[in-house]
Amino acid sequence: MLSPKHVITSAPGKTILFGEHAVVYGKPAIAAAVDKRVYVKIEKREDKKTHVTVEELGVSGFLNLKEELIDYNNGEYKKKNILEYVLKSLIKTNTNDGLEITINMDIPIGAGLGSSAAVTVATIFSLSIYNNINLTKNEIAKLAHQVELEVQGAASPIDTTLSTHGGVIYLSNNANKIIKLDINTEIPIIIGYTSKRGNTGKLVESVRLKVEKYPEIMNPILNSMESITKHACKALINRDHEKIGELMNINYGLLDSIGVSTEELSKMVYSARKAGALGSKVTGAGGGGSIIAYCPEHVDEVISFINKFENAFKINISNEGVRQESK
Ligand code: MEV
Repeated sequence: MLSPKHVITSAPGKTILFGEHAVVYGKPAIAAAVDKRVYVKIEKREDKKTHVTVEELGVSGFLNLKEELIDYNNGEYKKKNILEYVLKSLIKTNTNDGLEITINMDIPIGAGLGSSAAVTVATIFSLSIYNNINLTKNEIAKLAHQVELEVQGAASPIDTTLSTHGGVIYLSNNANKIIKLDINTEIPIIIGYTSKRGNTGKLVESVRLKVEKYPEIMNPILNSMESITKHACKALINRDHEKIGELMNINYGLLDSIGVSTEELSKMVYSARKAGALGSKVTGAGGGGSIIAYCPEHVDEVISFINKFENAFKINISNEGVRQESK
């Protein structure tokens, strides 16, 4: 079969509802794919060079696949490392030079919504279609996770699993067991995010040091997080709003106790509750990034309250993971 002239695929970002950090210790977590996506378009270039543009970030550069180098044209340094995920995705799929890759994202970068995983998953899927390679969703998720590990050093498979499969997923046993939860109705979640970014690797490491220093204090906290996630799974399926909110609040207390909240995140967490959220917590690694607020009611009040000092928006769950877009 001839390669198609161009391919466009997209993959969703994610938010962790319960179980971040504990998941690093083999505990379960619940995460949801969100209706904010990354779009990756691949076209042939006649000059045999490989060039990538991430339009919303104003970042672009030529990739040297043989030497694994990036020659940046422009872009702010902090945002440039998104091109490393693209480079590794090309190498992992044994792709040859000669491509123009255009990335569009409606996921805010650094907000803890898994933008790098979404870029990686959609890039790998676009490349597999372009190169006529058949990859199952599990294979895409696995390759994307390897790319994340190579670029970041450490990462659980949560982000890549969600970007690939979509939906609401209960992951356990180090994401070796993934169960798609049958939740078809909307989960009323608001994301609040601060422009201050957390460093996932450093935060995971800081928790690990505490676990080593105070095992008899930290292990019960991680066990409690596990119990929260198990209760939350039932509460989400039963749409028990009060319980979901309450469990988020307990989870937040524990995340704060292990040192991953910040003044900005804490302000958003309590403001959301004050404005009518039933529960709120840090989502993802913390240290900056985002909170989620559970808002079956008072959505507008919560958004406008947080928007006074940070950024907030409502998300919906995306049941669809990575997909090919029509031309
Ligand atoms: C980061 O989004 C979530 C953490 O649990 C780390 C990970 O799972 O890789 C903190």
